Parts: sequence; structure tokens; C-alpha cells
Amino acid sequence: MVTPLSSPRCVSCSAMTARTAWRDGVLYQIYPRSFADSNGDGIGDLRGILGRLDHLEWLGIDALWLNPTMPSPNDDWGYDVADYCAVHPDLGTLDDLDALVAAAAERGIGVLLDLVPNHTSDQHEWFVEAASGRDAPHRDFYVWADPRPDGGPPNNWLSNFGGSAWQLHEPTGQFYLNNFLPSQPDLNWWNEDVRAAFDEVLEFWFARGIAGFRIDVCHAIIKDRELRDDPAATPEDHPLIRERGHKQMFSMNRPEVHDVLRRWRGIADAQDPRRVLVGETYVLDLDSLMPYYGQGEDELHLAFNFLFVHAELDAEALRAVVEGVEQKLPGASWPVYTGSNHDAGRLMTRWAGDDERRARVALMMLLTLRGTPFLYYGDELALPDVPLDPATALDPVARRTGDASRNRDVCRTPMPWTDEPGGGFTTADAKPWLAFGDLAACNVAAQRADPGSVLHLVHDLIALRREHADLTSGSYATLPAAAGAWAWRRGERFAVALNMSGAELEVDVPAGRIAVATDRARDGECVAGSLRLGPYVGVVIEIAPE
Ligand code: GLC
Ligand code: CA
Repeated sequence: MVTPLSSPRCVSCSAMTARTAWRDGVLYQIYPRSFADSNGDGIGDLRGILGRLDHLEWLGIDALWLNPTMPSPNDDWGYDVADYCAVHPDLGTLDDLDALVAAAAERGIGVLLDLVPNHTSDQHEWFVEAASGRDAPHRDFYVWADPRPDGGPPNNWLSNFGGSAWQLHEPTGQFYLNNFLPSQPDLNWWNEDVRAAFDEVLEFWFARGIAGFRIDVCHAIIKDRELRDDPAATPEDHPLIRERGHKQMFSMNRPEVHDVLRRWRGIADAQDPRRVLVGETYVLDLDSLMPYYGQGEDELHLAFNFLFVHAELDAEALRAVVEGVEQKLPGASWPVYTGSNHDAGRLMTRWAGDDERRARVALMMLLTLRGTPFLYYGDELALPDVPLDPATALDPVARRTGDASRNRDVCRTPMPWTDEPGGGFTTADAKPWLAFGDLAACNVAAQRADPGSVLHLVHDLIALRREHADLTSGSYATLPAAAGAWAWRRGERFAVALNMSGAELEVDVPAGRIAVATDRARDGECVAGSLRLGPYVGVVIEIAPE
């Protein structure tokens, strides 16, 4: 059974008004090693997720995106795939995945898997074989190039994880491309056989009933055919591009990537029900992002917006991104917003500086903007990053760069279900694969018991979205607001006003009633025109009928 996140394939039976989960719903990212451990080995697993579906159903989640579930030597924690059509033994078996998909479907929850098409593990049989000689049948599955005359790498491309993106393979005398770790060789997407092999991977999982894919570094898969040097960054570039020093113009972001995305969209659309494609489109300007939605919705359904992710939690900065999206998004395409993930960190820490009031405002924003919100497991608790010792980091980026600020372990720690030993995540005597944060300060059980908690705020905002179409499909319009505040209208009957500053502010709003406030004491308050908002307080207003 497949949970339809999309309308059915046949047009005659797709009611235009039907709720479409990937547009109207709330999606939830799970890092499988850290959600729930069913067998006491300290590692979260698929049976563990199955055992926690009650929580997700109660919260009102429509679909899950699971970080990589496929066999992997875990050099990059699953993003180095050794077999695309199986399950990592740490996480369970194919039967366990089938059982999870079926149990989630019974609750109306779809399951999206992580697809990693840019690179494989060097342990994948394709690469093992490709490295065996220049004439190996799978040689051309990867990007090989001869050294420069001086013996150096073929061009100036840099790995996202530091250093050159080229690794010399001494036995065959050529370099192979690795945009991430040397043990993550990039696939050659100019090769028609690679495309055909991935068609089969998509079909394999769709036949097992998964609702779609989140596609890893989906802007990166095709490289410049001539392997031209990347140009230097310029002062107009996003700070993260300037930090790298290069614009990844030839090593990724090539126009031909759209051919591959259209091909996958064709496969997804041919399923019944249709499946959904969400892309990790790591581009840092909106003009580069929009083409990933395709022409007339023929590429990604949702293209993650990293300009938004990396903006400060600041009214002016975020409003500018959202207004840009509203202006530039093609046709009927749909925005997607997120504040946390397994790479960027958790919104409670990176956006809110561990101030719960600010996290509440951020969550209200995510759940009321026009676009699909993705929550990262623990966001519903305002779970902070856990300050772990970078010296013992498991994240290869922290180890390779020696940069403690790049340690992604801090946002991948186990979900705190209770404050008991093992945190309800694993057994009392098991050692979790990454350490817990402060279990007593933040856990699901305590917040479930407290109607004023962040967990209840998130639950109530999701319930409100489900109840009122204005909060899902309604239009967005910015309302004038004082500096530090951001206010907007959704459809006919709703307005949102967020004080994102540390000072008390006066905001003009339409008359009505506060449906939900981040400061729950203000729920139900009547508002007439002007509203005083304390520092870091947000409200959703149900506008009074004319
Ligand atoms: C994506 C993933 C990240 C991974 C990288 C290489 O950015 O989100 O976790 O390390 O791709 O696969
Ligand atoms: Ca386990």
C-alpha cells in the first residue's frame, strides 16, 4: 500500500480540491540512527521508527524523509552507498523497511528515502570493478581524467569536504573525481548506462511502496564535460561561496542536470499513485534555485531553499527571501522551508541561540508560511545541538578539516523520548552511538505532559493548518510592520505577526482573535487593529469576518 502524497495518475479521478500531502502537509526528517533503537545496540533502526509512529501521527505529520538507509561503510554515515537496493544491516532488513512503509501508510504517513546519485562508496561493486583497470566495463561509470603534465590534478575543483576534488589512483595512473570524500567517487552522469542503472533503482523502491525520494546534492550530479576550472568567487557571491573561494560553476550546477531530473520526474509521474521528488538543491541564490522546479512542473516537486536555511533568524532577512520566492517561483510550483537538518544544525541553536522564545517564533514561521515545512526530528521539542567533543567526532568533515564548527555530530544525537537512563531511545545499559544532550531539560514525555510546551505549540499549529485551507493553500501577502517584526496575511482569514526582535513592538494587524500565540497565555485574545507583542512573541490571528 502506498500513501498517496500526490494526486492519482488518472486525471479524471483527481479532484482539484483534494488535499495533496507534499503541498499541504508537514514533512518530517528522521536520522534513522538516532530516532529509536529497537534492539538495544545503541543505534536507531527501522523497527524503532515503526515503534514511534504514534508520536508522529499525534503530531500530525504527513510524510517522513529518512536519511540514508542503504548498506554503506559509513565513511559519511550512509551517504557513501555500497548497494542501492538493500537496507543497511545496522538499520534492519528489507522486510523491516516494508513493514515500516506499511505501518506508516495505515496512519496516512508516506515514507521518502534518501537517494544518493552523485557518488557511490568506493566499496560499491561498480567502483571496485572500475578501479581494476582502464578497460574495466564500469570504468566509465565514474569521472576519470589524466594528470596534468606536471602530474597534478586535472583542474582546480575543490572537494566540499576540503582539499582537491581529485584523487590519484596510482594503479591505473588516473585521477578520479570526488566532490566529497576520496571514498565517495563521483558517478559519471554523461554515461547512459549510469542513467539506466538509476532508473532501475527508482523503480525498485517505488515498487516497494515508498512515497518518493529526497535527492542528495541533486544540483551536482552532472559535471562540465570539458572539466573546465571553476572561477574564483566574487564580492557579490553569498558568504559561503566566498568562504570556499570558488564558484562551483563547472564542477556542479550544469544545465544538463535538468535532463536527468525530467527523466526521474517522468518515472515518478508514471507511478500510481504518483511519487514525489524533493531535491537538496544547494544553490545560494533564488535565480539558480527556481529552474529545479522545471518548466511546467516537470522536475522537482520541492527544491530545498538554502538561502532561507542560512539566513539569520531576522525579520528583514527572512522576509526578503520569502518575498523573493513569492516573486520568482515559476507557475504553480510550491515553496519549501526548513530550519534544521543533519548538515546545517538545529534551529534551536543555530537560529535561536538556545533561546526557546526565538525557537517558538521560528517554528510558528515555518508552520504558517506559504510552502511545505520540513521539521527535523527534535525540532518539535526545540531540541538544541549537543556540544560534543570535536576530538572524538564521528563526522568525517570535522575529522578531515579539523574545524570544530563543522562537526555535524552535534545535530545528529539521539531523540530524547524520556529522562530515564537510555532516554527511551535505547535500553538503560546500552551506549548510544552518539551521546545524549541534557535528557531532563528536553524530552518528549515531559513536553507531552505540559500543555504550554514547545511540543504542544507545534502540535497545535499543525492542527490549525489541517483545519484551515487558508494556512496551507492560501496566498501570502506581506503586511507592513515595524523594524524587527514580520507580518503577513494568508488567504482570506488568517494573519501572522512575529516579533523577531528582543524589544517590545507594536504591530498593525487585521481585527480578529489570536488562534495560537507562541506565548500560550495569549491564545484566544481578541485583537482590534493594533497589537503589542513582547520580545520574541508571535501570533496567528484568525481574522474576523467583515
Ligand atoms: C549531502 C548530505 C550530507 C553528505 C553530502 C555528501 O549534502 O546532506 O550529509 O555528507 O551530501 O553525500
Ligand atoms: Ca538498533
